[in-house]
Amino acid sequence: MKESNQEATSFLSLLRLHEQLTELFLTHQEALLALDVNLALSRLQQFEQELRAHMQVEEELLLPVYSRAGQIPGGPIVFFTGEHRKMLEFLARFTETLQQLKTKPANLPREIIKLFDVEAMFKHLMEHHDLREQNILYPTLDKVTTESEREELLSRC
Ligand SMILES: [Fe+2]
Ligand SMILES: [Fe+2]
Repeated sequence: MKESNQEATSFLSLLRLHEQLTELFLTHQEALLALDVNLALSRLQQFEQELRAHMQVEEELLLPVYSRAGQIPGGPIVFFTGEHRKMLEFLARFTETLQQLKTKPANLPREIIKLFDVEAMFKHLMEHHDLREQNILYPTLDKVTTESEREELLSRC
């Protein structure tokens, strides 16, 4: 693989978006750590909005192109879309919990510890998903597209 070429036009450049999303989720967790429920909620909402936008591009734009590769071991399309759905289910659960915590219950710190535990599961899922994209989706997209097509698709991501 020619590295200089890859950097400019590889779908692996989308890993930067994954890093930004991970960072945004951490800022939500920092607010939780400070017991600032309102801030934690608004950062979670911002995270969800950006995650949804990324997922939409993957599902509507990239997965149809990926399907050109045919059957890929460990990479059927339903794995990617199923993980997206599971992640959104987690986020709905976190939002609901935070709405409840806005009423400032007496046991707030303990409730936040519980939330951290569930969020740890979410972070593992997100890590697993990001690795699947890094190892399978993005390299396969590089193989089934031409340089100009990659440039065009990436400009829409
Ligand atoms: Fe994804
Ligand atoms: Fe992604």
